[in-house]
Amino acid sequence: MSDFVSGFWNIYVVGLVLISIIGCAVFLWSQSSAKHVAGQTTGHVWDEDLQEYSNPLPSWWRWMFYITIFFALFYLAMYPGLGTYEGQYKWSSVGQYKGEMQKAEEQYAPIFKKFQSQDIRAVAANSEAKEMGQRLFLTYCAQCHGSDAKGAKGFPNLTDSDWLFGGQPEQIKESILKGRDAMMPAKGVKPDLNGDQIKDLANYVRSMSGLASDSIRAQRGKELFGAACAACHGPEGKGMVGVAPNLSDKVWLYGSSEEVIIETITKGRTNRMPAFGEFLGDAKAHLLAAYVYGLGGGEKAPVAAPAAAPAEAAPAAATAGEPAAAEKK
Ligand code: HEC
Ligand code: HEC
Repeated sequence: MSDFVSGFWNIYVVGLVLISIIGCAVFLWSQSSAKHVAGQTTGHVWDEDLQEYSNPLPSWWRWMFYITIFFALFYLAMYPGLGTYEGQYKWSSVGQYKGEMQKAEEQYAPIFKKFQSQDIRAVAANSEAKEMGQRLFLTYCAQCHGSDAKGAKGFPNLTDSDWLFGGQPEQIKESILKGRDAMMPAKGVKPDLNGDQIKDLANYVRSMSGLASDSIRAQRGKELFGAACAACHGPEGKGMVGVAPNLSDKVWLYGSSEEVIIETITKGRTNRMPAFGEFLGDAKAHLLAAYVYGLGGGEKAPVAAPAAAPAEAAPAAATAGEPAAAEKK
């Protein structure tokens, strides 16, 4: 109602509502003076001799209608319904939503805060955090990664130890906060590859992970790979975290059949993990990172030397985990 730009519509709505209610009341009142006249009919005849008596409404019936009118007036005085009038209770759906959100915030913020200050590895070991993380995951992440986090075509499996952007707790958190983009250009860095050469490459890619391939084609593909693909996937196709996936393992984002690999090389692939930092905030992302890390695929020791060194991380996890466990009792 507050969307009206012109005050006219407010008056129009208020007028229409009041006139209808008052109109009903006046009509009912006019009926109360109707007298019972024995044998008087409405004059309508159906099926040759079926007639309708013209009797006044029974008064219990009329009073039920009066009660609905009183109720309507009371309701309109208390709740919004008359144009832009807010009602005595000042209720609004937006206000109710905000109130509920604030209540939830007051209730959960301290719990989120408690976990936010702990190391992700320690949070991952806490069963209360795991439950909260799972609920968040099912709400915000499952539509893409699946409710079991095992992913689908184009959406990575988060439970295995194969990471496109790193399986360290901090790297996982960064994936959630900032999102990730991946772009495989069509035909790699050699836009002049022809169909036959692409087939050779696909055979070579399959041979890298031990899948059946035509060995002559694979041999020719290997030479092309160095020029067209190695810049991102590495000379042996082992990939690089944050650059391009490992092609020599058994994990496939799009599929391992020759047909799908040819499609990947011919058309390229683009993929995006949306950034959740602004929407969820750091505390929830922290819990989610712990949940994902705790699914089992998280790397136990850093590979590239991110924030925490392995020697520090393990005892930190142990000590940070204890107070959390103690608090639960
Ligand atoms: C709209 C679909 C979508 C949603 C929703 C989504 N993701 Fe993703 N996520 C992706 C895609 C696609 C990728 C791969 C991105 C790429 O390759 O650039 C990805 C990648 C990731 C990665 C990195 C995986 C790796 O191998 O390094 C993590 C971690 C992750 N998502 C966690 C989450 C979490 C936690 C949530 C819930 C807050 C979430 N995602 C919600 C689509 C989604
Ligand atoms: C500019 C860097 C870059 C180059 C060059 C490149 N790729 Fe990729 N490739 C990627 C990225 C990034 C992905 C992941 C795309 C995604 O997540 O959607 C990818 C994905 C793939 C996949 C899909 C893997 C899967 O798990 O399904 C195949 C196959 C592949 N590349 C083969 C090749 C071949 C063959 C070449 C050479 C012709 C090549 N790529 C050149 C960056 C590159």
